[in-house]
Amino acid sequence: MRPQPDFIHEFVPGSSARTLLLLHGTGGNERDLIPLGRGLDPNASLLSPRGKVLENGMPRFFRRLAEGVFDLEDLKERTHELADFVVSAAEHYKIDNKHIVAVGYSNGANIAASMLLLRPEILSAAVLFRAMVPLVPETKPNLSSVHVWIGAGVHDPIIPASSTQELVEMLRSSGADVTIRFFQGGHQLTSDDVDLAREWLTTSLD
Ligand code: MLT
Repeated sequence: MRPQPDFIHEFVPGSSARTLLLLHGTGGNERDLIPLGRGLDPNASLLSPRGKVLENGMPRFFRRLAEGVFDLEDLKERTHELADFVVSAAEHYKIDNKHIVAVGYSNGANIAASMLLLRPEILSAAVLFRAMVPLVPETKPNLSSVHVWIGAGVHDPIIPASSTQELVEMLRSSGADVTIRFFQGGHQLTSDDVDLAREWLTTSLD
């Protein structure tokens, strides 16, 4: 039986205890971030679901009302659904559920941030490329054993630097160890993002 709740997804087994949960941006799919995941960690398993919401035919992980304005009820539901999928996929593929590291870009980074805030038990770490505050949780999560790396573009027209900074404060005040890097760029992922995230994954996590 496939993991329930189900998502269209790719799973690539690795040789280490770590699994990267790859979360694509708007208009992406489950295959998009596989090369990025392999480039970040050649040994990790890769679990890459496709977002179930369609915006003009483009897959996303949750609904938005406008750019940067999220449908919060949908975001909450979809965050729990994705977290439940990760739990059942970990059982199904026999992966170590203590070493799941989200790697998200844009919309994928925002649902990963939402998962940190609403389901803090799921991820041991997260690499968030171009993330903002997705929602304000009703209760503060305990993220004291969670490590987060965030890559932001100072000229990003979609993710305001101030909202990324707010996310950093929110995660730190919940106990997370957060590294933030600002790049002289926009919303696009750059090779500098990937190089620094790879170095952080190699040197800062078990
Ligand atoms: C979002 O909707 O999560 C952000 O605006 C980023 C994006 O455009 O996907």
